[in-house]
Amino acid sequence: VTPIAPNDHVLLMDDRGRKYLIRAVDRVGKVKGIGVFNPYTLVDQHYGTTIKIGTKHFVVLHPSVVDKVEGIPRRAQIITPKDAAQIALQCDVNSGDLIVEGGMGSGALTIVLASLVKPDGRVISYEWRKDFARFAQQNLALASLEQWCEIKLGDITQGIDEVGVDAVILDLPNPWDVVETSFNALRVCGHFASYSPTIGQVEKTVAELRRRPFAEIKVLETLQREIVVGPRGTRPSSNMLGHTGYLTFARKIL
Ligand SMILES: C[S@@+](CC[C@H](N)C(=O)[O-])C[C@H]1O[C@@H](n2cnc3c(N)ncnc32)[C@H](O)[C@@H]1O
Repeated sequence: VTPIAPNDHVLLMDDRGRKYLIRAVDRVGKVKGIGVFNPYTLVDQHYGTTIKIGTKHFVVLHPSVVDKVEGIPRRAQIITPKDAAQIALQCDVNSGDLIVEGGMGSGALTIVLASLVKPDGRVISYEWRKDFARFAQQNLALASLEQWCEIKLGDITQGIDEVGVDAVILDLPNPWDVVETSFNALRVCGHFASYSPTIGQVEKTVAELRRRPFAEIKVLETLQREIVVGPRGTRPSSNMLGHTGYLTFARKIL
């Protein structure tokens, strides 16, 4: 395995499992949770080793997609890996696909989608807030995935420019207002998906889907428990993520 090169993206994990996504550039600065350090000192270190920065120890890892999602700074509520995995599979997201995303937030879902559609596909992300668009763009760059995503600054309820889209995936407060435009943008058999925290949002979205030629309209909730293997026994972690969102899916038909 080759050692860390300049500009590599590196994951540092502390002894409590907290992850920090770092780029090996020559710039001294304060990194929250790590302290003041120059990431360039990581160059030539080997992945898999443990290093000391200040008084803390960190394992040096090669970042996975989950590490990238968990390692980015966040502003809005993100779609967590358990839900992103379900969305990716149910929407059959593949290399080469054209995906439209509505509501980019911190870009967590965008990172998952971009990593799946590359090298020939594209994610078009509609985001109406300039500050979030800029923030998500920085997070995509931190994940080295910016070249597979195009950000469109605007309100997705006003229309989707793309046609023949493989999947439209929404994470915004009023997905029902995007059902008609999604239908027009999707290719036949293309997938619609929406992530919503409340049941009321799901009911309004499903009602709109039922008014149009969509098949296999279904709503899922994914619950995930971590199991802690301890010295005195094995049991579910007491820190289960109680609720994230409901996932609404449908497929366009003729
Ligand atoms: C919860 S965040 C999305 C989080 C994102 N899925 C992630 O995993 O990081 C919702 C985002 O939708 C954006 N938004 C809400 N309504 C919108 C609309 N009509 N058009 C475009 N963006 C919208 C908000 O500005 C916000 O950034």
